[in-house]
Amino acid sequence: MNIILLGPPGAGKGTQARRLVDERDMTQLSTGDMLREARTSGTEMGRVVAEVMDRGDLVTDEIVIGLIEEKLNGDHGGGFIFDGFPRTLTQADALGELLKRHGTTLDAVIEMKVDDAALVERITARSTCGECGEVYNDITKPQPADGKCANCGASNFKRRADDNADSLKQRLMEYYKKTSPLIGYYYAKGDLKTVDGLGEIEDVAAEIGKALG
Ligand code: AP5
Ligand code: MG
Repeated sequence: MNIILLGPPGAGKGTQARRLVDERDMTQLSTGDMLREARTSGTEMGRVVAEVMDRGDLVTDEIVIGLIEEKLNGDHGGGFIFDGFPRTLTQADALGELLKRHGTTLDAVIEMKVDDAALVERITARSTCGECGEVYNDITKPQPADGKCANCGASNFKRRADDNADSLKQRLMEYYKKTSPLIGYYYAKGDLKTVDGLGEIEDVAAEIGKALG
């Protein structure tokens, strides 16, 4: 099964993608994670990507489509979870073509609906494990009291450079301008399923499970 998790910054795409990986043996493809890796490469591309991400703007379609194309050539076991991709209509068309070329299709697009006030609270309280990427939140899912990641036991936690008020404002603008048109695009194709992303993590997971069948 191949699915897209679609939603604004902080909607919970990464949190729910990790659960689906564990529960359904799917492969998470997060373009945000790939780009964060690229920015540490020391290349000119990495430097440009870092600047764009820190401002809260979208990286070019060409770069992210190239990243996804590379990953689709690999093993995909229980299918792909596209997390944070596509984000523009050009990317959506490219994904359709890429999947077709690999003899597969998209099974569902899960839109995660969360209002802006909750997003700001979630993003400013987020941290992640520097080793395995487990996502924490100072309020709703605090780091364990022993200072070790509950998933892998590492003790280096990170906060993202773009998780500040200015970048977040721009990330939200980019979402509403360039990504939200994908809701209509996938609705028209009959692929869209909308879940309430405001509930507890477990409840959102249950709704996604129900939507996927
Ligand atoms: P990306 O890394 O994709 O960031 P994003 O879309 O802004 O989304 P986030 O990762 O911030 O949020 P999330 O929905 O994954 O939420 P999470 O589960 O962490 O992209 C970053 C940048 O890279 C972009 O701005 C752009 O520059 C570039 N980029 C990436 N993809 C691109 C593309 N395709 N094209 C062009 N540019 C691209 O949860 C957030 C917090 O909330 C956590 O603390 C979590 O614990 C908590 N939480 C989660 N669920 C719940 C819940 N149900 N209740 C309470 N708290 C919750
Ligand atoms: Mg994420």
